[in-house]
Amino acid sequence: MDSRESTKRGLSRREALGSAAAGLVGLASAACVGSSPDERAEATRVEPGSQWATRPVEVRFRIGESEVAPNGRPARAVLVDGQLPGPEIRVREGDILRVTVDNTLSEPTTVHWHGLLVPNPMDGVPGLTQKPIAPGQSYVYEYPLHQTGTYWYHSHYELQEQQGLHGAFIVEPRSEPGRYEREYVLVLSDWLDQSPYDVIPELRKPAAQRAAEEQPPPGVHPLPDGSPFAVDVAQDAYLLNGKSAADPWRAVAKPGERVRLRIINAAASSFFRFMVDGHALTVTHADGQPVKPVEVDNLVLATAERYDVVLEMAEAGAHAIRAIPLGKPGEARGVLHSPGAAGAGSPGRARWGPRVLQYAMLHYPRESALPEGPSKTFRLALGGDMRRYLWSINGQYYPTRYVPDGKADPLEIQEGDRVRIDIVNGTKMYHPMHLHGHFFRVLPESGASPTAPLKDTIGVAPGATQRLEFLADNPGHWFFHCHNLYHLEAGMARVWEYVV
Ligand code: C2O
Ligand code: CU
Repeated sequence: MDSRESTKRGLSRREALGSAAAGLVGLASAACVGSSPDERAEATRVEPGSQWATRPVEVRFRIGESEVAPNGRPARAVLVDGQLPGPEIRVREGDILRVTVDNTLSEPTTVHWHGLLVPNPMDGVPGLTQKPIAPGQSYVYEYPLHQTGTYWYHSHYELQEQQGLHGAFIVEPRSEPGRYEREYVLVLSDWLDQSPYDVIPELRKPAAQRAAEEQPPPGVHPLPDGSPFAVDVAQDAYLLNGKSAADPWRAVAKPGERVRLRIINAAASSFFRFMVDGHALTVTHADGQPVKPVEVDNLVLATAERYDVVLEMAEAGAHAIRAIPLGKPGEARGVLHSPGAAGAGSPGRARWGPRVLQYAMLHYPRESALPEGPSKTFRLALGGDMRRYLWSINGQYYPTRYVPDGKADPLEIQEGDRVRIDIVNGTKMYHPMHLHGHFFRVLPESGASPTAPLKDTIGVAPGATQRLEFLADNPGHWFFHCHNLYHLEAGMARVWEYVV
């Protein structure tokens, strides 16, 4: 992104020199000469060579098997340091991070840094960017942070993400442009009491298919416009920072204080609709990247998306924080309360309000157009075969544990390409599509939008065509897949391959 910024504004001599000095980072970046105070705040950049940390921030992850009971019933989990969610990583722009992962499991693992623009060998995709970390082995991930915002990490090995191996990853800017007095990170997740490895085999049994074709049970949450949201896996519980609605997570703020919430949808296969009772939410960031602030009453987070919002704490008392999984019954809940206030708000009574965030309301604070250059266009059709429970891109299935004979051709691009994608969703379900190693611009159907937002994940509606584009500026093999874990494991993935 930084390099794109530089190119767009014209690379000054100073920036060019800075970039030459930035060997380690590769993506060089720029001081904000002559920009308005607002722009300067948004575009804060690390001066390579001067502020880059010389010694890495060291983190150690012990990945192991634990028994936890977030839903009141003991169940097997795969966790970092025994924590659900895993420990938060919090670093600063310009830091170098080194995470040593010790695998104490009896099965392999990897860790992926979702939304982070890392060098390809650090990306954590087993069989693509690294060999899985074998039982008893350790692996060191090390990379510089040349971006800011709200991200997350998770296992990219089979179904460990559903078993709890996920956590928040926050990169603070060198100087904070936002105005707020408090900040909280909200990790939303879904939880299965049974082993997730039973799910796909169950879905492949004929009885399950009949059940799936029936009308959804009562109590499932529709889309904000009231229409149904199709799902194929309903979990047993929905968690906010590892806690269920029975014992809700709590946050404190004084009336009048501005509170920043970093909301992360770390679920395996749920979309959440989110609100805080009695509060408007000003959306300031999408997938870690800034957007022109926009005020809404509530928003939907596709699986793996993040939004940062700011609210102004209303009157003293307790206000329910709600996250309802679309197409499923149940909810994740928290409480925002003033100091000393007890209770959980009015959990029974949800008033959602009419203003719902739409992708069309998201604008990057400045022009985000890509530099001129060669462009390549790909049409990627999403498909599914419900009888065999297989999910495809252009009719091909990526090989996995559940698709042993899968074969998916790489999508070939060259460094410098402006890659345009039309995702055509020919299925009856939403698919949260995610690109590794790059941000993409989310384009409207008309194609042109100078301030298109930058994201790494987008929910593509049934029957819709979603247009994206990204600059091929990070060579390697980059995964592109549906972030519904069961769809990914049933074949819905491809690889962007840089060729020369
Ligand atoms: Cu959260 Cu392959 O990614
Ligand atoms: Cu999907």
